[in-house]
Amino acid sequence: MMRPDYAATVKHQELLRWVKETADFCEPDQVYWCDGSDTEYDYLCQMLVDKGTFIRLDPEKRPNSYACFSDPSDVARVEDRTFICSLRKEDAGPTNNWMAPREMKNILQGLYKGCMKGRTMYVVPFSMGPVGSPLSHIGVQLSDSEYVAVNMKIMTRMGKHVLDVLGDEGDFVKALHSVGAPLQPGQVDEKWPCNPTTKYIVQFPEERSIVSYGSGYGGNALLGKKCFALRIASAMAREEGWLAEHMLILGAESPEGEKTYIGAAFPSACGKTNFAMLIPPAELEGWKITTIGDDIAWIKPDENGRLYAINPEAGYFGVAPGTNKKTNPNAMATITKNTIFTNVAITADGDVWWEGMTKEVPDGLTDWHGKPYDKFSGKPAAHPNSRFTAPAYQNPCIDPKWEDPKGVRIRAFIFGGRRSTTVPLVYQAFNWNFGVYMASTMGSEMTAAAFGNIGQVRRDPFAMLPFCGYHMADYFNHWLQLGRGLNNPPRIFGVNWFRKDEDGSFLWPGFGDNMRVLQWIIGRVRGRAAGVESPIGWMPRYEDLDWTGLDFSKEQFDRLMELDSEEWKTEMLAHEELFERMYDKLPKEYLFMRQLMLSGLWRSPGKWSLAADEA
Ligand code: GTP
Ligand code: SPV
Ligand code: MN
Repeated sequence: MMRPDYAATVKHQELLRWVKETADFCEPDQVYWCDGSDTEYDYLCQMLVDKGTFIRLDPEKRPNSYACFSDPSDVARVEDRTFICSLRKEDAGPTNNWMAPREMKNILQGLYKGCMKGRTMYVVPFSMGPVGSPLSHIGVQLSDSEYVAVNMKIMTRMGKHVLDVLGDEGDFVKALHSVGAPLQPGQVDEKWPCNPTTKYIVQFPEERSIVSYGSGYGGNALLGKKCFALRIASAMAREEGWLAEHMLILGAESPEGEKTYIGAAFPSACGKTNFAMLIPPAELEGWKITTIGDDIAWIKPDENGRLYAINPEAGYFGVAPGTNKKTNPNAMATITKNTIFTNVAITADGDVWWEGMTKEVPDGLTDWHGKPYDKFSGKPAAHPNSRFTAPAYQNPCIDPKWEDPKGVRIRAFIFGGRRSTTVPLVYQAFNWNFGVYMASTMGSEMTAAAFGNIGQVRRDPFAMLPFCGYHMADYFNHWLQLGRGLNNPPRIFGVNWFRKDEDGSFLWPGFGDNMRVLQWIIGRVRGRAAGVESPIGWMPRYEDLDWTGLDFSKEQFDRLMELDSEEWKTEMLAHEELFERMYDKLPKEYLFMRQLMLSGLWRSPGKWSLAADEA
């Protein structure tokens, strides 16, 4: 194909300088400016097929789609290798890894010298947010990975048209990436080049730049996503008075046609994609959910103190395992074509499979190591953090306003984690400040989306622990401060779809039935749903939810909503532990709110329940 050669037409001197300087230093064989066209996408995918990285899936079953297997050392974000290199350590705060920028740059220079030898350096211009929206920002990623270039085409607005908007001297975020695997002349490339021993994911918030080395996977390598749209953007947002959040945005339409937009933050692999694409049970006639975004929200107050949000992304990098026609039919429809699958299993007939897609494990699978799968091995065929990359416009329930440059008006925030005990199905914070406190002290059991002890509860404030580009307590203050300027601020709710009984079974059916909880939340926002006061916030009673079409008893519901004083004491102690880590900048309000909550807790040992509330 004709290589796009528009470099000669680029007038942005700083961009040209940076590209040249990087190429001189990293010594790639060639530099390729991505134009973002479909022809280019096909060409790069074919190149990946020829290298053995991509496997073209059956063109009838999965048109224009590919699967690939990563190196087993490169399967998720690497939080322990992620750094916020602000000038001052106290600006990164106690929850981020920090190193002085100069020291880090020394290390990176050592690693980056000649690191693209034998490869092509791709210049990938991209816009986070609709091109030209006042809420959008532009970045340019330099990367020696074709996998990155094609994924960026799906995940962002990518290509030459972005540089046209950038003009001669517009601001852009510099995002440098290398898989960290230079090739000697004649050396055969790995199918998944990466550096198995050395990885660095580095953000320089003051410079608004990113350098990532050694990984080709997801958030480590697609730098528009976590590195830019969350870590760098959160630091920008703090300075400029807006919010960059790890949130889905959904629209909920009532039978009367009333539309309510909501942002919801759950930690990685805790159900954002599912919730953003929810299909309500048929019995809840007339309700419809539409998707603005499934992972990241950029939110800004307008001149009247109302919050408007955009989804900075253009695609979904979604968790595959557990996704099926029942749990998430819209995701299944989204990934029927033009999709890249990473670390799923491949069927004998050239399609994809993962745990939870069907009850029966098909015969003749190739597992995510590229080996014939042994059903009786006790190991999964797909990696637990295997993912699909698919264009958002293929989502059947995409919201008509998903590319509206103005964004959509947010009326509620929902925060939720994965908690098998302690936390009830749903409650509403007493006010904005208590809501911010609730989000700050949120805990969740860890998942395969990050390195760590799976299942262990960790505090994950706002689901932003791995993504906040500055001191976490400054972030809390920013939320409190922003709230003071809002007119009728969004109501704040906590949810937990994951509470379990003594036998380890989920107490709540989840998925589509989460609509019942959402109905109550919308009712509260609109001032029509009733609730009772509990020690931790407002709660629905059994009769406040619509149970049409679901066999769920009052006893079951009351159990799901129960608060145990011993568990809540442990919970409140965990809040204190979190606060101790960031006492230097902790909002003073938090100490009072914690005391107020403690004083409102009931006598122990004992349980607070909705049933007792009636008596
Ligand atoms: P990231 O992309 O990592 O930020 O995660 P996400 O929050 O978008 O995760 P996703 O929606 O892909 O959640 C994946 C996991 O959550 C799957 O294992 C789902 O089966 C499970 N899940 C989602 N919703 C529910 C629910 O309502 N109930 C239960 N029990 N599990 C759920
Ligand atoms: C997450 O881990 O929250 C993700 C996936 O959304 S990744 O982009 O790999 O970080
Ligand atoms: Mn995420």
